[in-house]
Amino acid sequence: MTVDLDDPGAIRGADPGEMLGAVAALAGQCRDGYASGVGADGLPDVADVRGVVVCGMGGSAVGGDVLRSVFRDRLGVPIEVNRSAQLPEHAGTHTLVLASSYSGNTSETLAAFEEALRRGCRTIVVTSGGALADRAAGHGVPLIAVPGDLQPRAALGWLAFTGLGALEAAGLLPPMAADVAETVEVLDARAAACAADIPVAENPAKRLAIDLDDRVPVIWGEEGIGAVAAARWKTQFNENGKIPAWWSSMSELDHNEVVGWSEPYGRSYVVIALRHDAEDPEIAERFPLSLAIAAEAGASTEEVRTHARSPLAKLLDLITRGDHVSVYVAIRRGADPTPVDVIQRLKAALAG
Ligand code: F6R
Repeated sequence: MTVDLDDPGAIRGADPGEMLGAVAALAGQCRDGYASGVGADGLPDVADVRGVVVCGMGGSAVGGDVLRSVFRDRLGVPIEVNRSAQLPEHAGTHTLVLASSYSGNTSETLAAFEEALRRGCRTIVVTSGGALADRAAGHGVPLIAVPGDLQPRAALGWLAFTGLGALEAAGLLPPMAADVAETVEVLDARAAACAADIPVAENPAKRLAIDLDDRVPVIWGEEGIGAVAAARWKTQFNENGKIPAWWSSMSELDHNEVVGWSEPYGRSYVVIALRHDAEDPEIAERFPLSLAIAAEAGASTEEVRTHARSPLAKLLDLITRGDHVSVYVAIRRGADPTPVDVIQRLKAALAG
């Protein structure tokens, strides 16, 4: 069954959990999340902090990737994203640990948070509730609460921008209000251009969802913000679209993946290059050369480019476009974008 993406009523009917609305609400989440992070009370003293570790899994870790990639070139201290139950060995009293779990019940994040407390790390919690909220309250750890009732991956604005605001308020990040304002403006415009009532011919997200057909997307982005966006596109194709997808970063992929693009395999894939205007000149040169190699192997190729100014707006603009495409991919195939039953089943099996 294929749902007609030119029929807004059919789109609504195929999206009972309203994932399209959640994806379109990203601008407001970023604005409100930033304000609540900047206004957070009781943040730890970070004057002698030598590193930040963001602990989270899945959708709750992406906020950490946003911080890591946007501030890598601007911060004297490293920001690391820890997607495991184990804290890195170097984390200690001079480390700020930001524990991020939308549900507050993710085992890896809870374990890493407990370990951070044991080691005397400075800690901040971002969550909508669950065991993490209880444990933060029990230990007097500053908690930034985000609204519940969303899928974690659809709460990216809350999860990333509360952390951003809190790290700014604590004195680790420079003032970000101008970049946040640009991001909100760019995201609002993008949501309007990709809305359900904009027909396929004028709607880039619907068009790309149709062009994919039943091929597997492979997303490329420049190491840094491009690669973070590429990874997000992949996981959104998986969780919203219910399809396999892969990603890699430029120029790493030019040292291995390009060799694998060969007939007849290419025909099963669409390579989507996520581009921005501040790429390193050599990386900008590599993209068309590498896309041509994939095309020679039979792959279709697409380019998605942002013209936003700040790194933050560039990254979120690339992300929101993939979010929209992934929802239309699901709707077109008659798959419900919202539930992730397989993840719930795994969590239940491991808890039991
Ligand atoms: C589901 C999703 C998942 C979760 C992950 C961790 O929408 O995005 O990747 O984010 O299973 O759960 P939380 O975010 O509750 O810590």
